[in-house]
Amino acid sequence: MNERIVVVDDDRMSLRMVRRVFDKAGIEGHYLSCEKEFADFMDGKVVPDMFLLDVHMPDVSGFDLLKRIKTEPLYRNVPVIFLTGDEDVRTETEGLHAGASDFIRKPFAADVLLKRVRNTIELNRLHNNMAHEIRVKTEKLSHAYIQIVQALAASVDAKDKYTHGHSSRVAAYSREIAGRAGFSEEEQDGIYMMGLLHDVGKIGIQDSIINKAGRLTDDEYAAIKTHPAVGSEILGNISDYPELAVGARWHHERFDGKGYPDGLKGEDIPEVARIIAVADTYDAMTSNRSYRNAMEQNKVRAEIERCRGSQFDPRFADIMLQMIDEDTEYRMRED
Ligand SMILES: [Fe+2]
Repeated sequence: MNERIVVVDDDRMSLRMVRRVFDKAGIEGHYLSCEKEFADFMDGKVVPDMFLLDVHMPDVSGFDLLKRIKTEPLYRNVPVIFLTGDEDVRTETEGLHAGASDFIRKPFAADVLLKRVRNTIELNRLHNNMAHEIRVKTEKLSHAYIQIVQALAASVDAKDKYTHGHSSRVAAYSREIAGRAGFSEEEQDGIYMMGLLHDVGKIGIQDSIINKAGRLTDDEYAAIKTHPAVGSEILGNISDYPELAVGARWHHERFDGKGYPDGLKGEDIPEVARIIAVADTYDAMTSNRSYRNAMEQNKVRAEIERCRGSQFDPRFADIMLQMIDEDTEYRMRED
């Protein structure tokens, strides 16, 4: 591997000495002796493996050059070593704080110069490779995370013959409501996940009850009503994402306090659960069931309006109504 190093020093003697060492070691050097030459090099957009800078030069200081290097995105990750004749500790401290990787004192021994230069380049390469790998892995992981959650949500939906895609629609509607309500992108992503998983507790309920076409008995209804608690218990085990359990536990609470499982009221219900509650009910009305097709849009609208303030937080019900009004072709439903 052929290293490319830019050396800036006003002292021609010193430049020549560095050149002799680098030539012998097969290093490709660019030897510059003033600010003008440095500026020309930077304009060339060639990215070296390292900058070796003299601290004191008549027209410019090495610190100024360092600052320029660190503010240019193209050069920001290139390591910088200072060449200094100073015995001044303060200069070194300042330089290190400003982002220099190391200092080499003049006069230097050839093998010390080479060793330190190569160590720094190698370390920087390792660091850059690692940073790259971490970025790639993190992206992969978060992609896998979303897919696993989607698979889990789909497996819950699959238990119910009539609710295909329910969870992903509720997730999408919830994200839209949150976006319109001013939640940040990151919060919207979180709400989307909670929407996907809101019914995960249904995993623990018999398929025969979930798919029963006729009226539920009291016992069966009681069984259905356990799904928020079951869901939040399942998701509560994911300790790195404690918020996932929130939507599952409280999406059947009502704004007037008459919901379940905890009978929370108004603002005591977490906002995200209030959002999912609207989205959930909307999707139930706009998807096909064993006993009926999707309800007509004006009836759905009237129902959301009727329950505004009783079942739903008026703020999120209003946003849902706005979404309905914009949906002139009634596309927002199960297809
Ligand atoms: Fe539910």
